[in-house]
Amino acid sequence: MIDKKYIEKLIIKNASMNAHLVEGNVEIPSDSKMGDFAFPCFKLSKELKKAPNVIASELATKFKDKAINKVQAQSGYLNFFLDRDKFVESAVNTVSFDNLKFGAGKTICIDYSSINIAKPFHIGHLSSTVIGGSLYRMFTYLGFKVVGINHLGDWGTQFGKLLCAYEMWGDDDDLDKRGISSLLDLYVRFHAEAEKDKTLDERARVYFLKLEQGDKEALQLFDMFKQITLKEVQKTYDKLGVVFDSYNGESFYNDKIQPVVDELKQKNLLVQSDGAMVVEVGENRPPLLVLRSDGASLYATRDLATAIYRKKTYNFYKNLYVVAYQQNLHFSQVFSTLKLMGRDWVDDCVHVQFGMVSLKDGGSLSTRKGNVMYLSKVLDEAVQKALHTIEQKNPNLTEKETVAQSVGVGAIVFGALSNGRIKDIIFDIDKALEFEGETAPYLMYTHARCCSIIRKADQAGIKKLDIKNFKFKDVDSDTFELVKLIARFNDTVKLACEKYEPSILSRLLLDIAQNFNRFYLSNRIVGEQSDLANSRLRIINLTKNALNKGLELLLLKAPIEM
Ligand code: ARG
Repeated sequence: MIDKKYIEKLIIKNASMNAHLVEGNVEIPSDSKMGDFAFPCFKLSKELKKAPNVIASELATKFKDKAINKVQAQSGYLNFFLDRDKFVESAVNTVSFDNLKFGAGKTICIDYSSINIAKPFHIGHLSSTVIGGSLYRMFTYLGFKVVGINHLGDWGTQFGKLLCAYEMWGDDDDLDKRGISSLLDLYVRFHAEAEKDKTLDERARVYFLKLEQGDKEALQLFDMFKQITLKEVQKTYDKLGVVFDSYNGESFYNDKIQPVVDELKQKNLLVQSDGAMVVEVGENRPPLLVLRSDGASLYATRDLATAIYRKKTYNFYKNLYVVAYQQNLHFSQVFSTLKLMGRDWVDDCVHVQFGMVSLKDGGSLSTRKGNVMYLSKVLDEAVQKALHTIEQKNPNLTEKETVAQSVGVGAIVFGALSNGRIKDIIFDIDKALEFEGETAPYLMYTHARCCSIIRKADQAGIKKLDIKNFKFKDVDSDTFELVKLIARFNDTVKLACEKYEPSILSRLLLDIAQNFNRFYLSNRIVGEQSDLANSRLRIINLTKNALNKGLELLLLKAPIEM
């Protein structure tokens, strides 16, 4: 495979360079007029005591390699121009999309989605769920062992309120019928009534105490609320294609908190503050609240126990938390506390933060008042719209419903995966559903187009994809640019994982799709003489495989017909 590594090795060998001066420094110029690969000589300047442009000119003459057409010195860079035929041939014969061994032996924990019991799955949860879900697939592709964790919000005083409300106004039939919505109503009603009746909060506290003390009845009831919530959100997870290996949430850590508090005490890290126990984390940040004045633990306390448990149980290489940037302070306090405790592995814990998603035509994301935009409703709406478009574009399509499902859900998912995650996004469903532009349907459609060309070629008897070591001749620039992008696939997945940023892969797929559609305009198949038709068919097959794998890694389906 002719890639950055190949060029690096070439420089080390031909220019007798020290490996450490070369490795990691080869670039891919944004404009291919500057070469297909480039090596900047600026860093060598100090070592060799010569100006970068002098170094570049001297080195340029030293390369003889059958994969390289020419090497040019330009403004301190060495620009490498590949032999197109050789490059495309090597890519077509070697690029594959089987799982890599890159991450073998290392475990990645990903905490994502992490919903709260008795709260609806609203559009605000979308990013965590799909960014985490996509990272899960990408890390797995790279050969890491991945543990997907839904750190359920299933502990806290609010559940005392819920139990209390259920006892006063609970209606099992309604609960059966409306699930989470019914629970949410109880919760909202509790808040309204507690404003008038001051005794309610105290009663709720007693209920929570019962939970904390392991009262059987209270726990059973709470478990029922938990099951109702999980059953309902599972439908959404199925639609999105995300999976979890563990649902250990906050309540799981209840009996693992005391040892953490003891350790904090023993290490003199706990200080009294207004009756509560806190850890000073410095750097102008407020202290981390560990125990309230009534001795109860908090969300953050449970996160301390969680991180320690994960290290002990999974011995992770990285421990990721895919959580909105609103919790920046929380994670920075938790990580600093672990550091103070001497847990140096905390440097491998990462808050993978993301911005807010809101809908263009409104839709409030607040749970308080109960008027939230349920994710499942947004998905259903997108699927309906997709079906409508398909009815118009391709009324004879078989499996219209299935395709509409893939397109509708995919459009929403891609909305959250195609932008840099830290940005706040205002989501426009209609735009996301368009078949042109930077959308999921566009990628899916390009994939389906590849499939259809291959089918037609097959019918015309041009299918010879199984020839080994196929030779390419007079490769044109559209083909060359397309294959160069595809050849970057694995490095791009690595980069996306390194930055915890699925949008890096989204970008590549969009570039591949655009370049493919350009290639396709100027490269006929049916009607060409067989060698040429065959070589083009190979490029199309390679594109299809790249898009197929890329879509999968972004949680998107790849219909073969659209
Ligand atoms: N349940 C929390 C929320 O909805 C997110 C939990 C994230 N994970 C964690 N270990 N703190 O805000």
